[in-house]
Amino acid sequence: MTDKIKEKANLKLNGDLYDFDVHEGTIGPDVLDISKLYAQSGKFTYDPGFTSTANCKSTITYIDGEEGTLLYRGYPIDQLAEQGNYLETCYLLLNGELPNQDEYNKFEETINEYTLVNEQLNRFFTGFRPDAHPMAIMCGVVGALSAFYHDSIDINDPEQRRIACHRLIAKMPTLAAMAYKHSLGQPFMYPKNDLDYAANFLNMCFGLPTEDKEVDTTLAKAMDKILILHADHEQNASTSTVRLAGSSGANPFACIASGIACLWGPAHGGANEACIRMLEEINNVDNIPEYVKKAKDKNDPFRLMGFGHRVYKNFDPRAKVMQKICHEVLDHLGIKDDPLLAIAVELEKIALEDDYFVEKKLYPNIDFYSGIVMKSLGFPMDMFTVLFAVGRTVGWVSQWNEMIEDTSQRIGRPRQLYIGNEHRQYIGMHKR
Ligand code: ACO
Repeated sequence: MTDKIKEKANLKLNGDLYDFDVHEGTIGPDVLDISKLYAQSGKFTYDPGFTSTANCKSTITYIDGEEGTLLYRGYPIDQLAEQGNYLETCYLLLNGELPNQDEYNKFEETINEYTLVNEQLNRFFTGFRPDAHPMAIMCGVVGALSAFYHDSIDINDPEQRRIACHRLIAKMPTLAAMAYKHSLGQPFMYPKNDLDYAANFLNMCFGLPTEDKEVDTTLAKAMDKILILHADHEQNASTSTVRLAGSSGANPFACIASGIACLWGPAHGGANEACIRMLEEINNVDNIPEYVKKAKDKNDPFRLMGFGHRVYKNFDPRAKVMQKICHEVLDHLGIKDDPLLAIAVELEKIALEDDYFVEKKLYPNIDFYSGIVMKSLGFPMDMFTVLFAVGRTVGWVSQWNEMIEDTSQRIGRPRQLYIGNEHRQYIGMHKR
């Protein structure tokens, strides 16, 4: 798969004319190649937040924000979430095609081979306070993997890269569950490879060595879907962070740790936690108008968490699936009148009809419902972003691998519009 040059775009600057190739991808907006702009004109472009900038060519994930479409390797997210499973999705994102049965079995076997972490890594956890945020622990222990797996950090060796990707996919649930168990003061649970990926994760989080309790299959299925919905999302902040870290040649474990750090922020993966906190703060459907008013007030920093998206100017397609999962899980658990869900449903209704949200195209995003589902599965709020990180790992490693294979990629090094002091002379302290 490749792009083609469709036409030339011209830029007239101080009487000089510059030509730029306009590239056409498979679908989506055309892209102006301005990589030679500085060399030719001595000028930079200015694009804070990269709202108009494509940093790479990619074959992995496509989003149409106006339509509310999300495709992994061409497959719609709702079809994958409703008909596929997470490991199959991992294979697809990593390799470009859905696996046949034989390929799937081999892939599952490979991932299972790597689910354990080195026993020495267990001791890292004792250095963290029990009330440490699990994302803080994840930043540390995932980065520390590079100190354990020296045989898979040569980024120029495709086989080592493949092993590192598999290791990360396999070990993330183990480490995430360990972070959770640490907060409870409970013993770590070893992975059980006869369970599927999601069930194994739930077992490591909620199981105890003292009892042999079966994992609830409906809840494991919901967990699996949550992971699929979070698996990749094009060049979002954490993925771009992973690519940027990787562009310097950093090892894959360090790169994924940088992605985890970025994901933690409340404007990104931390929004699911922030959304539940907001629903709890609203406390009652009667208080919703007051909070909607606050969200619309320019002088108030409050925003409706779980609403709005940089790319989606329509319903986030993941939010629709998540809403369905939310009802399935609550029905299965027999939770009839969940107060947070009642507030969420009413808030969604009011916001979707409100001129402010309609005009700014602020629709519910995935985080609006994911927090309620994760809470119902039994996870405390500070684990929500960790679950996101577990699911997103395959996206990060797929994008990282694609970047390394792309011969046109160079170290990421944005420039700036400098507005500081001009050249001036140092003055000794005694004269200041
Ligand atoms: N509540 C109220 N107003 C909002 C919201 C919101 N949730 N989101 C955006 N707006 C307003 C902004 O105030 C701004 O108004 P203005 O044009 O009058 O200044 C306008 O809508 C555009 O917002 P920006 O912040 O410029 O949009 P941007 O693309 O930079 O931000 C973001 C997107 C960060 C997701 C934003 O919508 C937000 O903060 N949402 C809440 C947090 C959230 O749910 N994050 C999860 C994102 S999805 C994910 O990471 C999985």
